[in-house]
Amino acid sequence: MHDILKVCLGVFYLSAVWSQDLQQVKRIVGESITFEIPNLQPDTEINWRYRPMLAPSSTNLTVTIINRKIKTVYDERFKTRLQLVNNTDSLRINNLQAADSGFYQVEEFSLKKFLKKFQLTVYNPVPEPHVKKMNGSVELGNRTCTLLCSVGDPSGVTVSWMRNGKSLGTTQLNLTQGYDVTYTCVASNPASNQTTTVTPSDYCLDQGHGAVTQWNHYIVIIALCLSWLSL
Ligand SMILES: *[C@@H]1O[C@H](CO)[C@@H](O)[C@H](O)[C@H]1NC(C)=O
Ligand SMILES: *[C@@H]1O[C@H](CO)[C@@H](O)[C@H](O)[C@H]1NC(C)=O
Ligand SMILES: *[C@@H]1O[C@H](CO)[C@@H](O)[C@H](O)[C@H]1NC(C)=O
Ligand SMILES: *[C@@H]1O[C@H](CO)[C@@H](O)[C@H](O)[C@H]1NC(C)=O
Ligand SMILES: *[C@@H]1O[C@H](CO)[C@@H](O)[C@H](O)[C@H]1NC(C)=O
Ligand SMILES: *[C@@H]1O[C@H](CO)[C@@H](O)[C@H](O)[C@H]1NC(C)=O
Repeated sequence: MHDILKVCLGVFYLSAVWSQDLQQVKRIVGESITFEIPNLQPDTEINWRYRPMLAPSSTNLTVTIINRKIKTVYDERFKTRLQLVNNTDSLRINNLQAADSGFYQVEEFSLKKFLKKFQLTVYNPVPEPHVKKMNGSVELGNRTCTLLCSVGDPSGVTVSWMRNGKSLGTTQLNLTQGYDVTYTCVASNPASNQTTTVTPSDYCLDQGHGAVTQWNHYIVIIALCLSWLSL
């Protein structure tokens, strides 16, 4: 019984330490990230290790910093994109790529002392959503105007309609009335979002109806002509 308790406490302690030490950050492709390292002695040697999101648990030495200068960058991909900020030990990566996503761990070299760990996720920018009118349906005599909110490349992007700042949780808006209220179509991922705001009346007001009415006129005229001809 005691052993189980000890194991449980151990697991609890480890997960608490883990979540405390891991800082999660999100960025968009092309942006930069600065990993803040609180004041170290100026002459400290620190090492950064990097591990891609889905790689096995081994980490590779990426960059060595001594006396607030970048000494060696081991990983080709980062060679031109690393800098130290304002004469501190805070490391900045410029022009982020999706492939930079992963875990970044920093340690003090001489003491083998673990300092901090970051989980960086780099997202593609969200495309602007567009709005399209779908073929309407008629339910119990009510004409329904259906507006679809979508993005060209939906991978990793959540799309939904919003009204008054509240998500409606749907990409398809079925309206029979209230065409003058504005709706916002939102495309988002965890790092950013884009919106398009529309007034349904711009899409829904009676184009179809007008055409039908006109068509009806033609039918009436043709019918009249036919009846005159047959006289
Ligand atoms: C570590 O470096 C080796 C050799 O350069 C490479 O094959 C491996 O993919 C790297 N591992 C990670 C996790 O980056
Ligand atoms: C760097 O220093 C400048 C001027 O002192 C300051 O405005 C800026 O916020 C600093 N940048 C960072 C990332 O600390
Ligand atoms: C609307 O209906 C027409 C004819 O029934 C069809 O050809 C067209 O593909 C439909 N459009 C949409 C967006 O469903
Ligand atoms: C049809 O529209 C009326 C008023 O616009 C509404 O009260 C009724 O619920 C609608 N019926 C359906 C089936 O949507
Ligand atoms: C809108 O109407 C379509 C077809 O009539 C239906 O499949 C869809 O579930 C409706 N969406 C909502 C949010 O009511
Ligand atoms: C869109 O992003 C802005 C700025 O990041 C944020 O304040 C806002 O809440 C986001 N809106 C939605 C609908 O996610």
